[in-house]
This record gives sequence, structure tokens and C-alpha cells, in this order.
Amino acid sequence: MSLEGKVAIVTGSGRGLGLAYARELARQGAAVVVNDVDESIAAEAVAAIEADGGRAVAVVAPVGPTDTAKRLVQTAVDTFGRLDILVTNAGVLRDTVLWKMSDDDFDTVIDVHLRGTFTCVREAATYMRANEIPGRIICIGSPTGQRGNFGQTNYAAAKAGIVGMVRTWALELKKAGITANAVIPVAATAMTATVPYFAAAVEADEKGEPMPAFFRHDLGFGTADDVAGLIAYLGSDAAASVTGQAIGVGGDRLQLWSHPEAVVTAYHEGGWSYADLEAQFPSLVGEKLQSVGEKFPPLPEELQR
Ligand SMILES: NC(=O)c1ccc[n+]([C@@H]2O[C@H](COP(=O)([O-])OP(=O)(O)OC[C@H]3O[C@@H](n4cnc5c(N)ncnc54)[C@H](O)[C@@H]3O)[C@@H](O)[C@H]2O)c1
Repeated sequence: MSLEGKVAIVTGSGRGLGLAYARELARQGAAVVVNDVDESIAAEAVAAIEADGGRAVAVVAPVGPTDTAKRLVQTAVDTFGRLDILVTNAGVLRDTVLWKMSDDDFDTVIDVHLRGTFTCVREAATYMRANEIPGRIICIGSPTGQRGNFGQTNYAAAKAGIVGMVRTWALELKKAGITANAVIPVAATAMTATVPYFAAAVEADEKGEPMPAFFRHDLGFGTADDVAGLIAYLGSDAAASVTGQAIGVGGDRLQLWSHPEAVVTAYHEGGWSYADLEAQFPSLVGEKLQSVGEKFPPLPEELQR
């Protein structure tokens, strides 16, 4: 087993993707600190891991505040003796268009995803550095953070922010041998079950049938278990040289995302005045303007619901 002797924390692991990550890490030999706000699903997750022959303990607490981050790391160390892998996965949605989004909608999503990632990684990295453990930080992003999405101002801010933090942590933690990567998952879970476009895939999954190839292959949309292998790989010694990356996975598809970089660079001595820009912007930049949002191919007729 590739993670024998290692200890992992997975936030928001009572169900969905987090549960799949926790179970796979345990299958690969890691002892796992399960975390969720929902006590019963956290207990069920621990029981499922133990039934598979693994080791797990639950911390029922909301990710976001520093206190929870401290409890998670302390529990890993007190129960299993160390901490090697942190997966920041806990998440909530409060979707609505910008002009209807309340301060509370914004703050709730930022608090769980962005602050929760920051506080947990700060605590874990501090522990790993102090104990000279070449740890693994795996943070969960989203296609929305990479490209934007209608109705998700708060979530786009949080998920883009997470990838920005990961790039910074890859730099800051390199000397300590700690890697920091973002995983951009796509899978059928409670979070995606209500999206009409994915209805036929979710329906197949719920019946225990294989998802149509259009979803698995063309869209990179599969089950939570399809994402878990990448989490275990990034947590392993085999991935020691992989850091600062944003890696997408879903269904049959694996993707390495680029980081933003300049696509046009032009110079004008003395700087760019309004008049310079009016004269030159269209020819210099016009054809290179970047697209936003995800592009979904039309659903084949037989998969429309
Ligand atoms: N499902 C997808 O296709 C998809 C795509 C991109 C990103 N993601 C991301 O993957 C992660 C997991 O998503 P999912 O689809 O499994 O969602 P989910 O809603 O099924 O699971 C999220 C879990 O997090 C828990 N949680 C919520 N707030 C918490 C908090 N403050 N502290 C601790 N636990 C908390 C919930 O109780 C739940 O068990 C999220 O970060 C999500 O944004 C999912």
C-alpha cells in the first residue's frame, strides 16, 4: 500500500467527494481524520473506513475558524502520532446572480472554502515544518474558479483564491519538501445532482449503472471515486516533485491546467496613453481577448431529460 504509515486529514469527508477521498486514502494505508459539520455522516464515514479494515477518527466541527484547524491537527497527532497529508475539501454553495447575492451568501462561502483552506493549511504546514515532515497539501478548486460561472460570484472568488494560495504555498513550502497542489474535480455528488445538464449521468449513477461515455469521456464527469485516485497519488511519495499545480480529474479524464500568463506583451516608450490605446489596442490585443466560462457541448438527444 502506497500510504502505509501516513496520517491524513480530509475536511468535509462525511459524504460526497470528501468521503471518497478519505476511503481511498485509508485503502492505501493512511490513518484518516474525518471531518464534517454533520455528526451522523462523520460517524458513518469512520465506520465505513473501519469496515474496510482502515483506521479513522471523526472531528465534528465547522471548517473556517482557526480553532477547528487546531483541533484537526491536534487530533491527527494525538490519535495517530503525526500528520502527513491534508485535503481541504469542505464546501458549501450559496448560488445566485451578483445583484441578488447577500453579504451573508458571500461571507458563508468565503468562510468555509477560502478561510477554511487558509486556516487548515496554516496549521498543518506549521506542524509539518516544525517536525520536518515532507507533507502533502491538497486543496480543492473548481472549474468555476478557473473560468468563472454564472451565479457563482462567491464560489468563483473562493476557488480562484484557493489556487492563488496554492501557487504561493508551493513557493513558501518548497524548502521544507512540502508539496501544495490544487485538484479541480468534477463528479456526481449532492452539489451537482440538481444541475439539469448532468441529470442522465446522475440517474445512471443512482441506479448503480455505468455513466454514459459522453459524460465520462467528453465532459470528464464521473463518480466521486473517479477523483479519489489522484488525491491518493498526490499524497504519496511518488508525487514528491509535483507542486504548485492545478490538476483536473473527472470520469475518464485527467487535465493539467495552465496558470495565467501574459498572452500579449507590447511596449510603448513613455507608457500607454488613452490615445495610444485607442489607436493600437484593437490590433495588438483584439484577436487575443480571452473567453470566460466553461464550454459544454450540446447534450446528445438521448441524454436530454
Ligand atoms: N461535485 C463536483 O463536481 C465538484 C466540482 C468542483 C469542486 N467541487 C468541490 O469539492 C468539494 C466537495 O464537494 P461535494 O460535491 O462532495 O459536496 P457535498 O455537498 O456532497 O459535500 C460537502 C461536505 O462538506 C461538509 N461541510 C460543509 N460545510 C462544512 C464546514 N464548514 N466544515 C466541515 N464540513 C463542511 C458537508 O456537510 C458535506 O458533507 C467542495 O469543495 C466543492 O466545492 C465539487
